[in-house]
Amino acid sequence: MAGGASSLVSLAIVAFLLSNCWWSLIFFPHTPELGSSTSSGRCDLSQGEWVPDIDSHPLYTNNTCQYIQRSQNCLQNGRPDRDYLHWRWKPFDCELPPFDGTHFLELMRGKKLAFIGDSLARNQMQSLHCMLRQAEEPINLYSDPHEKEYKWLFPSSNFTLANFQSRFLVNYTEPEDDIRKVYLDVPDMVWWRELAEYDIAVMSTGYWYFTESLYYVNNKVLGASKGSQLNVTKVEMWAAMGIALRNVLKQMSNEYKGIIVLRTVTVDHFKNGTWSTGGVCKRTSPFSHQNGGIPPMDWISRKINKVQIEEFDKAMAYVDDTSRLKLLNITYSAFLRPDGHPGTHRRQEPGEPVFDCLHWCLPGPIDTWNQLLLHTLQPLADHSPSSTST
Ligand SMILES: *[C@@H]1O[C@H](CO)[C@@H](O)[C@H](O)[C@H]1NC(C)=O
Ligand SMILES: *[C@@H]1O[C@H](CO)[C@@H](O)[C@H](O)[C@H]1NC(C)=O
Ligand SMILES: *[C@@H]1O[C@H](CO)[C@@H](O)[C@H](O)[C@H]1NC(C)=O
Ligand SMILES: *[C@@H]1O[C@H](CO)[C@@H](O)[C@H](O)[C@H]1NC(C)=O
Ligand SMILES: *[C@@H]1O[C@H](CO)[C@@H](O)[C@H](O)[C@H]1NC(C)=O
Ligand SMILES: *[C@@H]1O[C@H](CO)[C@@H](O)[C@H](O)[C@H]1NC(C)=O
Repeated sequence: MAGGASSLVSLAIVAFLLSNCWWSLIFFPHTPELGSSTSSGRCDLSQGEWVPDIDSHPLYTNNTCQYIQRSQNCLQNGRPDRDYLHWRWKPFDCELPPFDGTHFLELMRGKKLAFIGDSLARNQMQSLHCMLRQAEEPINLYSDPHEKEYKWLFPSSNFTLANFQSRFLVNYTEPEDDIRKVYLDVPDMVWWRELAEYDIAVMSTGYWYFTESLYYVNNKVLGASKGSQLNVTKVEMWAAMGIALRNVLKQMSNEYKGIIVLRTVTVDHFKNGTWSTGGVCKRTSPFSHQNGGIPPMDWISRKINKVQIEEFDKAMAYVDDTSRLKLLNITYSAFLRPDGHPGTHRRQEPGEPVFDCLHWCLPGPIDTWNQLLLHTLQPLADHSPSSTST
């Protein structure tokens, strides 16, 4: 289910507009956990390379985590190659220590963390869930039948991990006979109404802004997406996404007391077509200098990444406490992993095999984003939601 048909159509459009991949990281304050760092005391985790890590094992497999969504369960779905599981992210300026689930849970004691975004946010939440369940089996507090909302409790640390599906982060109404309407200045109630309960909100968005939409600001039509036939102003997808992010970050800065993590756009790797036109991703190793070189990152991923970081920087300028805003700039490290997608090893609909070159295999490179999330969150200042916040 999971919005199957409509998300496929949208992904087809998305795939049509993109011919490459997406993800990146940011500047994190140096923490004692990180090994060597630059003379400035900071290590830029967004820039680095994937290095072979032949003896490593994934933190979990389809045998040790039974909650891997079928479409991303590449091992169970019969993906034959295994090399993609044996790479680690090496930031140029420091070493990234391995993920330690017990440490993560200890850091999060008594806290609640939500992933908020589209199916890629869920993909990342499910990765973290599998990584943590090796330390402790969580209790499922809630799973909705459409795989959009989850809540897990890790009892020994009283840590809650949640997911809210919100494709645009802002409110939208599904089209009935006409075009979808996206209200760029209205946070989506799906997450907004529960946000105050959460200590940490990991926000992400991107691909849905490629779909045909009519954009509203202040309840007035701002314009329509580029492909639209409507006789109104055309708005680039990144411009619409930027306005939405600006509004969401502004309202969160003003009305939310917790930590806001902005995870930048990931990268897809469709080649020779799109989701619906036979696009493929067949690589079984990362882009690297040793292995055929590193092509330039596609312009659209660079553009979306840039807009997201511009909006992050704007929010940094007015937030009451800048330590409450964190950037997880994973776009570049995602770009380097064309081998990390399910490809044909997803759950197939009847008919022609369709490649998924957008989501990520579990286990896979997406696990690294959670390793980076841990280092972004520590040391974790006390930003518990105040009981009076709404
Ligand atoms: C984020 O990553 C992109 C892509 O590598 C890079 O161009 C940009 O400088 C990075 N920005 C920050 C603030 O880390
Ligand atoms: C995990 O995947 C392997 C194939 O890689 C399969 O043999 C095994 O049965 C799967 N385990 C479960 C629990 O489905
Ligand atoms: C668990 O954490 C929640 C906040 O996330 C808190 O309200 C609750 O009192 C905690 N329970 C225990 C047993 O510490
Ligand atoms: C979205 O906006 C519409 C129009 O303003 C409003 O009727 C609806 O209640 C909103 N829904 C959500 C979930 O915010
Ligand atoms: C588009 O709208 C403008 C302004 O409202 C109008 O002048 C023009 O005729 C319209 N074009 C079409 C093709 O309807
Ligand atoms: C690319 O597409 C063409 C036409 O759709 C097809 O003939 C060719 O085999 C495809 N190449 C790859 C690598 O899939």
